[in-house]
Amino acid sequence: AQEVVDAKLIKAGHIINVETGRVTARQYIYVEGDRIKDIGPLAELSNKDLPETAEQIDLLNYTLLPGLMDSHVHLIGNANLHGYNSLKESTPSAAIHGVANAKTTLMAGFTTVRNLGAPGFADIDLMNAIDDGTVPGPRIIPAGRSLGITGGHCDNNLLPFEAKVTAGGVADGPWAVRAKVRENNKYGAKVIKFCGTGGVLSKGTKIGAQQFSFEEMKAIVDEADLLGLKVAVHAHGEDGINTAIKAGVDSVEHASFISDEGIRLAKRNGTYLSMDIYVSDYILSEGEAAGILEESLAKERIVGKKQRERFKAAAKAGVKMAFGTDAGVYPHGQNGRQMQYMVDWGLSPIQAIQAATINNATLFGVSEETGSLNAGKFADIIAVGENPLENMKALEKVDFVMKGGVVYKTAP
Ligand code: ARG
Repeated sequence: AQEVVDAKLIKAGHIINVETGRVTARQYIYVEGDRIKDIGPLAELSNKDLPETAEQIDLLNYTLLPGLMDSHVHLIGNANLHGYNSLKESTPSAAIHGVANAKTTLMAGFTTVRNLGAPGFADIDLMNAIDDGTVPGPRIIPAGRSLGITGGHCDNNLLPFEAKVTAGGVADGPWAVRAKVRENNKYGAKVIKFCGTGGVLSKGTKIGAQQFSFEEMKAIVDEADLLGLKVAVHAHGEDGINTAIKAGVDSVEHASFISDEGIRLAKRNGTYLSMDIYVSDYILSEGEAAGILEESLAKERIVGKKQRERFKAAAKAGVKMAFGTDAGVYPHGQNGRQMQYMVDWGLSPIQAIQAATINNATLFGVSEETGSLNAGKFADIIAVGENPLENMKALEKVDFVMKGGVVYKTAP
């Protein structure tokens, strides 16, 4: 066999095929550069003409699956700053924390994330620094600034009028929101995020209140379509959810109060739900000490439980599920904790894994490149000590991480 630079031969105890749900024992994955070149049973390895110089990676005691993907994180910022404390943080400081958060996220087995909102365009700079090898981190689909109405969930409402604080993505009216989409695109956003209802953690907003009219939502989606960008909407209340789905968004984030009508609309339009059903536990147990406003805690007491019930209804109805956590509200690297919750609230184990791999890859528009283990795709591979189909909590402790053929975490 000829000499190939940068060849790696992984020997796997088990591999989960996230497309078929099948688990196969004793497999190999042959990696060249950043791509999977070949994958098959170890028994057939002797018939293959693979380079002898390939670096051997022994994962015979592990179960392998594609790198996990999270459809909703906020890497930029110090995740310990909540409520009024968040006003203390400069954008450069937020970006520095972003560098650390990106590494933590990758080491937890998340090789691709959608960053749904960041101050300035720091998530785009972070993406570039990761892609050029300056710092370690996951592949990032960055949103840049989140669009929102004046005084809405995506504005900053903590200070009085005299302070003149307005978040960078605030715009009112169809043409103004189109301009914001164009601006985000200009500075490198790969997805558009807007706030379609009030939220839990924003001061003075109502969960049930729709933000942006249908005309504005439609303008955002139409402009994003022209530019080839997908759209994610933050929406808890049913009116905002239904209106956003009708306007054509690709995913609904949170979707806490999605009605039966909303579930029907999502099914009909192929809209993904990205429901962060773990974070409530963090907010209600640690939130007060972390500085989350009392009014937000009061909202969370209503939202958290309802959201899980509606997740169950949506799962039962067969709506497309993304895996989105809102990490950044709680510590990065704990994203995997939501996997068990997805199963507790109605998905089968393989469906939960599909949400965090192939479904997210499809939602992000990167399924040709990553999200499953196939020849031709990026070698984004993780390994865990136990089969997660039998114990989902195995995904809270990922032992081996490869992204684009580079090993970031070596199995013990
Ligand atoms: N960023 C979201 C908001 O402020 C967090 C919601 C968290 N709660 C929940 N149950 N998912 O609205």
